[in-house]
Amino acid sequence: MSTLITNIGELVTNAADQGGGFAALSDAGLVMDDGQVTWTGPASRAPAADHIVDARGRAVLPGFVDSHAHLVFAGERGAEFAARMAGAPYQAGGIRSTVAATRRATDPELRAGLRRLVAEMARQGTTTLECKSGYGLTVADEARSLSLAAEITPEVTYLGAHVVPPEFDGDPAGYVDLVCGAMLDACAPFAKWVDVFCERGAFGADEAAAVLAAGQSAGLTARVHANQLGPGPGVQVAVAAGAASADHCTHLASADIDALAGSATVATLLPGVEFSTRQPYPDARRLIDAGATVALATDCNPGSCFTSSMPLCVALAVREMRMTTAEAVWSATAGGARALRRTDVGYLAAGARADVVLLDAPSHAYLAYRPGVPLVAAVWQAGRLVAGSAG
Ligand code: NIG
Ligand code: FE
Repeated sequence: MSTLITNIGELVTNAADQGGGFAALSDAGLVMDDGQVTWTGPASRAPAADHIVDARGRAVLPGFVDSHAHLVFAGERGAEFAARMAGAPYQAGGIRSTVAATRRATDPELRAGLRRLVAEMARQGTTTLECKSGYGLTVADEARSLSLAAEITPEVTYLGAHVVPPEFDGDPAGYVDLVCGAMLDACAPFAKWVDVFCERGAFGADEAAAVLAAGQSAGLTARVHANQLGPGPGVQVAVAAGAASADHCTHLASADIDALAGSATVATLLPGVEFSTRQPYPDARRLIDAGATVALATDCNPGSCFTSSMPLCVALAVREMRMTTAEAVWSATAGGARALRRTDVGYLAAGARADVVLLDAPSHAYLAYRPGVPLVAAVWQAGRLVAGSAG
């Protein structure tokens, strides 16, 4: 059954035939059928359809592509957040408290938490999401985290190399061997991506390169947590490995910016983390002006950033990172698709998956202009209404 959304005030297409960057049509219509977009164009020329939705001048966007999230965990760290806001620094070690809680949790408990977050994301317009392991850190706990993640998304990332767990204190090399050996063997069947937290207090350049190489030889594609807490080798390791994405990119040297600009590695910025850890924001302007591809994602996790809201990330990117409203929306949709090497999402034109967000606003700019306001009126994923209502 085909559906026509008509009277769209602004249809953000990001379509290749409009240049491939941010692009929009006004007074537009969109037809979806059988899970795909089949037509976009001026509303006055829309073909007939079985079902009509009147957008009444409101804006329609591609569904958000959240290319970085850690959703399989138990417990919460609200007290750690409060302490941070009272002056304590963010340290990677907080991850261990979530690891302890996650190991104690049952599969149904982890599944319920995961599904609650996925539903929360859908209500805010996210129609594609990536999900990492990284709070299990034993062979069995990493494998079950990934098997749960695979229930909700194909974009599953093996992050056994999140931190060294307590039982390997004093033996980080032993843990890296496990991550590259038995743990990888158990995890690779569930995963598409391999990730490593390359940071002081987590894994160094050589360890990170070894983890990525092992993952790649098991058929996984690399992505890296890079340069989050301070300057370091993460971005260079990511680019050298041909990673799809280097994520965080908060503390970049000029050579890092050049490396990103000269490669296919997407710079994925996670402004919710800087908001929630009270750190300086990454320099999106410099990355974009240098020619790097920039994505925006939430990094939803219980420690450094417990938001699932792509609209919040768009607002922060515009207000705090000098991105234009158009750049931020492109990075949260098409940019995320590039970071996940997906060609079916992040844009709205014939052939795209029908991942469609109807805003209660006349233009995409309202996502930043009205921060914190629930503007997502309806969400279709592969043509199916998954949140809100189209009335
Ligand atoms: O992306 N940087 C490493 N991992 C997460 C934080 C996880 C946590 O604090 O629990 C991140 O920020
Ligand atoms: Fe992360």
